[in-house]
Amino acid sequence: MTDSQQPFFDQLDWFDEQDCARLDEGLAWARAQCPVVHTGFGGGMHVVTRYEDLVTVASHPEVFSSTMPGLATVPVALPPIDVDPPLHSDFRAFLNGPFTRAALARYEPVLEKHADALIDGFVADGQVEFVSRFAVPFSAGALAKVVLDDDNEERLQRAVDAVTAVSVQNTPESFAAVAMLAAELMAEREREPRDDFLQSVVDATVEGGRPLTQEERLGVVTVLLLGGLDTTRGALSYIAKFLTEEPGLEARLREPGWARGDLDEVLRYTSTVSVMGRVVVQDNDLLGVPLAKGDRIAVHWRSGNRDTARFDHPDSLDFERNRNPHLAFGIGIHRCVGRHFARLQLEIGINRLLARLTNFRLVPDSVVRSAVGISVGAPEELHLEFDQVGAQP
Ligand code: HEM
Repeated sequence: MTDSQQPFFDQLDWFDEQDCARLDEGLAWARAQCPVVHTGFGGGMHVVTRYEDLVTVASHPEVFSSTMPGLATVPVALPPIDVDPPLHSDFRAFLNGPFTRAALARYEPVLEKHADALIDGFVADGQVEFVSRFAVPFSAGALAKVVLDDDNEERLQRAVDAVTAVSVQNTPESFAAVAMLAAELMAEREREPRDDFLQSVVDATVEGGRPLTQEERLGVVTVLLLGGLDTTRGALSYIAKFLTEEPGLEARLREPGWARGDLDEVLRYTSTVSVMGRVVVQDNDLLGVPLAKGDRIAVHWRSGNRDTARFDHPDSLDFERNRNPHLAFGIGIHRCVGRHFARLQLEIGINRLLARLTNFRLVPDSVVRSAVGISVGAPEELHLEFDQVGAQP
C-alpha cells in the first residue's frame, strides 16, 4: 500500500504549483482508499474522486446543490451553472438550441478565417509562443463572434479585445467591460430583433413566463465566457504540446474523422475543467460516508477520468479505446452547454494549423508553464518550432 496522502489533502491548495504537480498521485491514492477524501481547502471540502460516485452526485441535484459551483465563491450570479432544478431547466431550455452543432454550422467559415488570420501572423517565423499567439486569441475570438455576434466589424473587434482581456487578466474591470458591451448589444436587440444568441437571451422567459432580470441576462453571458475561455484554450494548448511528444499523432489528426473519436481521448486525458463544487442540502450517505447539510463537495471530473474501475491504463493517451464514456464535460443536468462549440473550435483550430504547419517541436531549452486551479496542467506557455506544409526541406 502506498503511504497515506491524507496530509497532502489536509494542506492542499488547488492554486499552488507544487500541490498541482502532486495532485494526480494524491487522487489515485484517494480513489483506491476511500470513497471521499477530506481537504482543508476553503474551510473544508469532501473531494469525490471515483467515477461511479461522481455519477451519483451528478444524478442527485436535489441532494448535491450547484449553488456553490466553484472552488471559491463568486460575487455574481452565473445561471445556469449555479442554479438548481426546477429553474435550471428553464435556463437550459433556451441555451441548448443556439449551441447545437447544427446551429453553430453558420459560424464555421468565420472561425476558419479567424484561425487563418492568426496563423498568418506567425507562419513565416518558424516558431511561436502558441498559447498567447493562437490558443487564447482563437478561443476568445470564437466566443466573441458566437456569443456577442455583431455585424459591426469595429465593435466586434472591441468584443474580441474585451473577451481576450478577461482571459488574460481575469480582473473585475475586464468582466465589467464585457458586461457593458453585452448590455449594449442586448439593448439593441430589444429595439431591432436579430437571429442570434443574444436575441435568444433577450426573448427568453423562465418560471412560467417572466423575462430574465438584467442580472440574469448578464450572468448568462458571463458564465458562457468564463466557461468557454480557459477550457477550450487549455485543450488546444494540450493538443499542440502532444503534437511535439506523441509520434504519429500528427498523422492521426490529419485523418478526416479525428474529431469524433481521438478528440474524446484528448478530452478525457486533459479534463480542462478538472473540478467543480457542490453543497450538500440534505443529510445523506449516498457515497457510503455520512454527509451533512452544508458540507461542501468537490466533484473531481479529472479524477473520474483516471479511474481504473472505468478505464484501462487511464494514465496514458490511448487512441484505440473502444468506449470512452469520459466525464470531461461533466454529466447530468449541468453537462456542458458549450461542448459542441468547444469541439468545433478544437476541430477547426487544429485542422487549420495542420493545413499549414507540420513537424512540431518544442523550442530547445524553452519553458513549458502549466496552469494551476481548475484547468490544472494545461500549458500556459508553450514555445513551438514548426515547418510549413509544402516548404522545401
Ligand atoms: C474543452 C472545453 C470545455 C470543457 C472541458 C468543459 C467542461 C465543463 C464541465 C465539466 C461542466 C460541468 C460543470 C458542473 O457539473 O458543475 C461544464 C458546464 C458548462 N460549460 Fe463547459 N466546458 C468546455 C467548454 C465550454 C464552452 C466553449 C462554453 C461556452 C460557450 C462552456 C459553457 C459551459 C456552461 C455555461 C456550463 C454550465 C451548464 C449548466 O450548469 O447547465 N463550456 N463545462
